[in-house]
Amino acid sequence: MRLSVIGCGYLGAVHAAAMASIGHDVIGIDVDARKIAALSAGQAPFFEPGLQEILSEGIASGRLRFTTDPAAAKGAAVHFVGVGTPQQRDGDAADLSYVHAAVDALLPHLSPGDIVAGKSTVPVGTAAMLAPRVADRGATLVWNPEFLREGWAVQDTVDPDRLVVGVPFDASTGVASEAGRRAARILREVFHTAVAKDTPFIVTDYATAELVKVAANAFLATKISFINAMAEIAEVAGADVTQLADAIGHDPRIGRRFLGAGIGFGGGCLPKDIRAFAARAEELGRGESVNFLREVDAINLRRRERAVQLVVDALGGSVFDKNVTVLGAAFKPHSDDVRDSPALEVAVRLRGLGARVTVTDPEALGNAARLHPQLTYVEDRDEALRGADAVLLVTEWDLYRRELSPEHAATLATGRIVIDGRNAFDPAAWRAAGWTYHGMGRP
Ligand code: UGA
Repeated sequence: MRLSVIGCGYLGAVHAAAMASIGHDVIGIDVDARKIAALSAGQAPFFEPGLQEILSEGIASGRLRFTTDPAAAKGAAVHFVGVGTPQQRDGDAADLSYVHAAVDALLPHLSPGDIVAGKSTVPVGTAAMLAPRVADRGATLVWNPEFLREGWAVQDTVDPDRLVVGVPFDASTGVASEAGRRAARILREVFHTAVAKDTPFIVTDYATAELVKVAANAFLATKISFINAMAEIAEVAGADVTQLADAIGHDPRIGRRFLGAGIGFGGGCLPKDIRAFAARAEELGRGESVNFLREVDAINLRRRERAVQLVVDALGGSVFDKNVTVLGAAFKPHSDDVRDSPALEVAVRLRGLGARVTVTDPEALGNAARLHPQLTYVEDRDEALRGADAVLLVTEWDLYRRELSPEHAATLATGRIVIDGRNAFDPAAWRAAGWTYHGMGRP
């Protein structure tokens, strides 16, 4: 099928390449000429495992093309809108200007019968607001939220755990309209590989589809902040939050995933999505229903401060002039994304307290240096560890978690202080090698 993808940032670029990889003829469109030039040359503009391969294959096959010209969308049966919805500069709500700009650019090139599929994370009510403009062109708007995780984005797009499509409903009958049912059928054809595997395919109304996305991210953020709240209690009670998480995680109703206590969540999604959700709920007069998300946010941000405090305390009350090696800059492993990275924020704060901070990361140093040029960046892990008075783990890459032995680290660092901001090291092994180990919510 011929598809267009408007917006070739993270979501859009992955989506375009993934759709080409399952046999579609895809044109990716973005206003950023540099991004389009890179993608057209088959170069992934960011680090995402597996993307480079499907990008090169798609371009070589002729099924995947990129352009800055919105007119190239003409002739596609489905137009995906995958632009960003960042936090507004002066508030918590989502900035929808890119969504509006994308739809404005697309409208003149729509033909009757086309489907416009919104993928961006938007406040509930956005699709209903946009739908009449799309319908004026004889096309149908659907909302098809994206649940991909960075680091697993290709796999999550080709083989998602569920597909959700919000379609227009008939107000009089309360069921999907004829155009809505037709759109759902076409989306099933688009996602044919997942449909063939019996992936749950949920057809619903616009508002539910929009809410599924923000509710999922709100739940995940709440789960992480829950365990981090337990870590705060464990810290004063002398308990071990990782054992606590293991023990409650054995209950299948709870589950162990996303109960990793540490410096908390960051990235381009969870932090801004819970704020936008709270802001939208207030607009709808139901702020109290998700007031807990403010607490989720506050707990999360306190963990960054806690990690800084642990370093200060471990170094005897001051980090001034001390060499601190920070392992990790990305907001999580398998990603070069440093948007709202807790790892980087902790590093910046330590620098602000006068520490000599050296940051290392296998993928994210370029992005980190652009954002915070004041820090010292060293690519080689061992080089970065040399002369450290304290070592701080903030992004749990295998390169640190699995491949760095405490004995080897001891041959490089000057001090024997390790602060594990992700509870990813084995405390017994580090202590046995002569280190003073500090975890998050662990005695
Ligand atoms: C998140 C969701 O997991 C995706 O389903 C969603 O599609 C995406 O946002 C989005 O809205 O686009 P992502 O931001 O890639 O995906 O990252 P996550 O894997 O959710 O991790 C978010 C943060 O939580 C990271 O900083 C990670 O280190 C932290 N985290 C995760 C913890 O602190 N503890 C955990 O146990 C798990």
